[in-house]
Amino acid sequence: MKVYKIGVIPGDGTGPEVVEESVKVLKAASKKFGFSIDFEYFDFGGERYKKTGIILTDEEIEKVATKQAVLLGAIGHPDVKPGILERGILLKLRFTLDQYINLRPVKLYEGVDTPLKDKGPDDINFVVVRENTEGLYTGAGGFLRKGTPYEVAIQESISTRQGVERCIRFAFELARKRNKKKKLTLCGKTNVLTYAFDLWERTFYEVAKEYPDIQTDYCHVDATCMWMVKNPEFFDVIVADNLFGDIITDLGAAIQGGMGIAAGGNINPEGVSMFEPIGGSAPKYTGKRMINPLAAIAAGQMMMEQLGEDKAADAIEKAVMKAVKNDIKSMAAGKMGFATDEVGDLIVSYL
Ligand code: IPM
Ligand code: MN
Repeated sequence: MKVYKIGVIPGDGTGPEVVEESVKVLKAASKKFGFSIDFEYFDFGGERYKKTGIILTDEEIEKVATKQAVLLGAIGHPDVKPGILERGILLKLRFTLDQYINLRPVKLYEGVDTPLKDKGPDDINFVVVRENTEGLYTGAGGFLRKGTPYEVAIQESISTRQGVERCIRFAFELARKRNKKKKLTLCGKTNVLTYAFDLWERTFYEVAKEYPDIQTDYCHVDATCMWMVKNPEFFDVIVADNLFGDIITDLGAAIQGGMGIAAGGNINPEGVSMFEPIGGSAPKYTGKRMINPLAAIAAGQMMMEQLGEDKAADAIEKAVMKAVKNDIKSMAAGKMGFATDEVGDLIVSYL
C-alpha cells in the first residue's frame, strides 16, 4: 500500500482545531481509496516561541523537507509582535522550500452566500496564481537614521526574470489544464511600477507565444479588484506578483463565502508543497469549537490533488459541496449550525 509522509504544522490560535478536522477527513479518504498517511506533527508557532524563544531552525526545515507535503493551520499570535512569526515561520518555509506558487482557487459552491448581488457558482470560479518567493516579500531594504526625524525606510520589490517566468508558465499550464475559459489574466500595475511590471509584461507575452490556445488579458490591480466584484465571470486564471496576489485573494475569499471556506497551496512543483486555510489564527475563537474547518479540509483536498490522489481529492470536494448545499447554514464562525468537529464528522459521513 502506498504510504504518504505528511508534515502537520497546526500552529497558532484556531489552527490546531481546523487542522484536526482536515486530518480526520484525510484519514477517512485514505481508508476509502486504499492508501495510507503517516502524519508527523511539528509544534512551530507562537506558543513555543514564547516558551523557548525558538522560531524555526534550519534543522527543523530540513526535517519538514523530508515530507511529501505539509498541512499548516495558522501562524500568528496576539502576544508576539507582527512579523516575527510570519516572517520567521510561514515565509521562511515558503522561501526555503522554494514554494514559488501560491495557488488560490476562488470557487463559489452552491448553497454558499456571496456578498455579490446576482452572482452565483457559474460566475465565481477562477484561480489566482500568486508568485510566492519574490516581490515585496523578500525582506530587502532597511532603515537609515532610524528613530530620528530624518528617518528613511526602504522596502524593495524584487522581481527576477527566472522567478517571474516560472510563475507565468505555471499559470499558462493551469489555464490549459483547467480547460474552462482558457484565459489567463496578468494582474499588475504597468502604469506606475514601470520596472517590475515591465519585466512581468514582457515575460507574459513572450511565454504566451507558446500557448496560442490560451487567451491573454491584462488588468491593473485596482481594476482587477473592481472586476472581481462587478464581473467575476470574466476570470479563469489570474497571475499576480506576491503582494498583489495576497491582496486580491482576500477579496477572492470574501466573494467565495469567506475565510471559512478559502484554501490555498504553497506549491513547489518539483519539491515539497504546503497547504493551508488562508484565514488567520482567529485567536478570539480559539478552543470554542466555533471556527469553520472547511477551509482546512479544502486545503487537504488540494494536497491530495498535488500528490496525485485525484479520486480522493474529488471525493472530498463532493462531500464539502454536499454539506454546504444541504446542511451548513453559514461559512462564518459560530453560525454554521454545527461545531467545528461536527463539520469534520459530517464531511467524513458524506465521504
Ligand atoms: C497569506 C498571509 C501571509 C501573507 C502573512 C501572514 C505573512 O496574509 O498567506 O496570505 O501575506 O502571505
Ligand atoms: Mn494574505
